[in-house]
Amino acid sequence: MKSDSVKLKLGVVGCGAIGSRIALSVMKELKGRFTLCALYDIDQAKVKHLTGRLKLRGGAVTTLDDLIRRSDIIVEAVNTPATTDIVRRSLKAGKNVLVMSIGRLLNDSSLFYLAQRSKGQLLLPSGAVAGLDAIKAAALLGITSLTLTSRKPPAGFADNPYIKEKGISLKGLAKDIVLFDGKVKDAVRYFPQNINVAAAVALAAGVKAKLRVKIIASPEVKRNTHEVVLEGAFGRITTRTENTVCPDNPKTSYLAVMSGIRTLQEFSSNIKIGT
Ligand SMILES: NC(=O)c1ccc[n+]([C@@H]2O[C@H](COP(=O)([O-])OP(=O)(O)OC[C@H]3O[C@@H](n4cnc5c(N)ncnc54)[C@H](O)[C@@H]3O)[C@@H](O)[C@H]2O)c1
Repeated sequence: MKSDSVKLKLGVVGCGAIGSRIALSVMKELKGRFTLCALYDIDQAKVKHLTGRLKLRGGAVTTLDDLIRRSDIIVEAVNTPATTDIVRRSLKAGKNVLVMSIGRLLNDSSLFYLAQRSKGQLLLPSGAVAGLDAIKAAALLGITSLTLTSRKPPAGFADNPYIKEKGISLKGLAKDIVLFDGKVKDAVRYFPQNINVAAAVALAAGVKAKLRVKIIASPEVKRNTHEVVLEGAFGRITTRTENTVCPDNPKTSYLAVMSGIRTLQEFSSNIKIGT
């Protein structure tokens, strides 16, 4: 879409840290390309708060169906398993959908088949990790080993049920502790709030690559840090991304929010760089 053509109507599902920041960008930097037409959250107080903050009149909706009906493109930014339902309903309605909770898609391949048949596009931002473009290119030659090591400060794992169940205490941690070492499908199941990065790397590399995920609580790191190492006929690649947190939610990396905004920008201009 060129800047002088019709603007796309955009609806946001989930008015938390990411949804709010994206909504703000749509009304500022992206206003030449999109019109913010609808906001929805299961917590209606958040919708009210955000429409007030943005001075958006008539944009508050009370059902997902209403939001999908009004929008050309839907931004999913919820923190519950509802992601797959939101994506399915959007694609079935022939609408484009940008998915922030990419980790929720990994165990549901039916959504990717649906996207191939739908008039709408499934947009997956790179999130909080660098180098997905190179991983996709490397996968064409074959990846023989692929490891993602995610290190976070112990506070980043507060209230994780898997850690509680295993009886692991992170209080006063003096050195790194490996919380998980295994397959990506298990990683996204046990660490749903923390592991969108693993899903993004796995989807870029493809199923044959057999991603190994290590999750480490580290008293030494101040930033959520992701190292990706892969080898194959292309050579060897190592990337390291150190994320500052989003001012509105300490569990979310700022880069992830910006990658959503950047994906919208590229989608609206039909120019895709590094994807
Ligand atoms: N791709 C990435 O790299 C990446 C990085 C960070 C976060 N995320 C993901 O993005 C998502 C949003 O993150 P956030 O920081 O904005 O979370 P947040 O907790 O700040 O906000 C989530 C919002 O979703 C709402 N919500 C929950 N279930 C809903 C439903 N069924 N319908 C409508 N609204 C619903 C909640 O009320 C809340 O307002 C999370 O799933 C997070 O894991 C992805």
